[in-house]
Amino acid sequence: MSDDMTISDNFMTDEWRPFIHFTPEKNWLNDPNGMVYFAGVYHLFYQYNPDGDKHANMHWGHATSTDLVQWQHHDIGIYAAPEGLGYIFSGGAVVDVNNTSGLGNGNQPPLVATFTHHSEDAVQVQSLAFSQDAGKTWQEYENNPVIANPGIKDFRDPKVIWDDERNQWVMALAAGQVIQFFVSRNLIDWQLVSEFGEGYGEHGGVWECPDLFPLTTANGITKWALLVSIHPGGPNKGSATQYFLGDFDGTHFVSSQTETKWLDYGPDNYAGVTWDGLQATSNKRIFIAWMSNWLYANDLPTHPWRGGMTLPRELTLVETDNDFFLSNLPSEDILALRTQYILDVGQVKSLPQSSAYEVIWKFDKSIGNNTITFANNADEKLVINYIAEGNAIEIDRTQSGWIDKGFGQIAVAPLKLIDESEIALSIIIDRSTAEIFCENGLSTLTSNIFPSMPYCKLMVKSNCTVKCFELKAQ
Ligand code: FRU
Repeated sequence: MSDDMTISDNFMTDEWRPFIHFTPEKNWLNDPNGMVYFAGVYHLFYQYNPDGDKHANMHWGHATSTDLVQWQHHDIGIYAAPEGLGYIFSGGAVVDVNNTSGLGNGNQPPLVATFTHHSEDAVQVQSLAFSQDAGKTWQEYENNPVIANPGIKDFRDPKVIWDDERNQWVMALAAGQVIQFFVSRNLIDWQLVSEFGEGYGEHGGVWECPDLFPLTTANGITKWALLVSIHPGGPNKGSATQYFLGDFDGTHFVSSQTETKWLDYGPDNYAGVTWDGLQATSNKRIFIAWMSNWLYANDLPTHPWRGGMTLPRELTLVETDNDFFLSNLPSEDILALRTQYILDVGQVKSLPQSSAYEVIWKFDKSIGNNTITFANNADEKLVINYIAEGNAIEIDRTQSGWIDKGFGQIAVAPLKLIDESEIALSIIIDRSTAEIFCENGLSTLTSNIFPSMPYCKLMVKSNCTVKCFELKAQ
């Protein structure tokens, strides 16, 4: 597709709408918000402009799912009040099991959302909204804001967890280029207890959308993880999410980490956080992120919607090579969709056309550089390379289709397991999305793609095995 393609108002690009990824029916979407699981239902709110396909006029859109695959769209969850406290920026939501906030009506625990109000003159304060009917309808707390602005320009994205050990709520909040921690007994009165970030990680841009939570390895070692999105300053330009592993004692997060750890090396995984409320039934931390990059998000060529989410992924804590990492792999609800698909034998293999699919590409490292290519009949291709020198995976979308506005770039992810003899990649393609999971999720690359017609051929270079699964929602 040519670089100068323009989108007219009645132009529809349904051929780019993913099968199993969340997208809004129409208009602009960015960060996932208010992710809370309650009574068997996953709630997903998101930064949403109900009136247009550019970032402006932020409300919280709302969708629900029982399986993380099929989503039901709902009315706006929380409305902007431009004349009042302002637009509704990012944040989280929790199940207030013991009604500590007093916002419940006695029938069932209230769900409480924490978010940033961003006023017309760009002052950011923290506010609450709550639901007394299991997330169906939401109302704003009457005494908002609960945290006033202390004179910091970028002061936003409150994400709260329940700290069972200390019987308190803990809020992580982005403040300039650090994360501030606040504690509360009731979600209403908050006390600033510490901040983290100076001298840690990347500081090439503003810090946004923090998320703090504990995880335990298969061997029973627990660490606290702090996710922090940053823009610009990502490893492959623009937006990305770094993470820190350490300990949290109820007031302070401490980490001995010296290198920067990235949750994903692709250009399109941003502002991701995890679901609250699952901890009541399992130890799972399910993560979802906005699949875009502030560098070009406002220009992506889809219509009538613009912006979507990554696949939901399960985060786990892994100890390897005397260090700890987060791994992220598609949640089991996604993997349960796998149906084996037989690819034609020979060098050129034909890809499924009517569903999302996963290609598992394996080969021995001793082969050296290697390549797998997804191509269509319009001479467009998505190329994935293994670069032996440097032990890295590269995703090259320079000829993948629409490549306007700096979109057509190459992104590189270093592999972590030096001693591993085999390379095994899971590559999930869902129309305009490509997600690559290397080393069982230790290194991942998330990338949008906009081919002018679906890729139909798979080309592999040298000795390797290739397996393909359709990922079909029932
Ligand atoms: C991250 C972000 C958040 C902010 C929201 C505004 O992408 O900039 O920090 O709350 O988007 O839409």
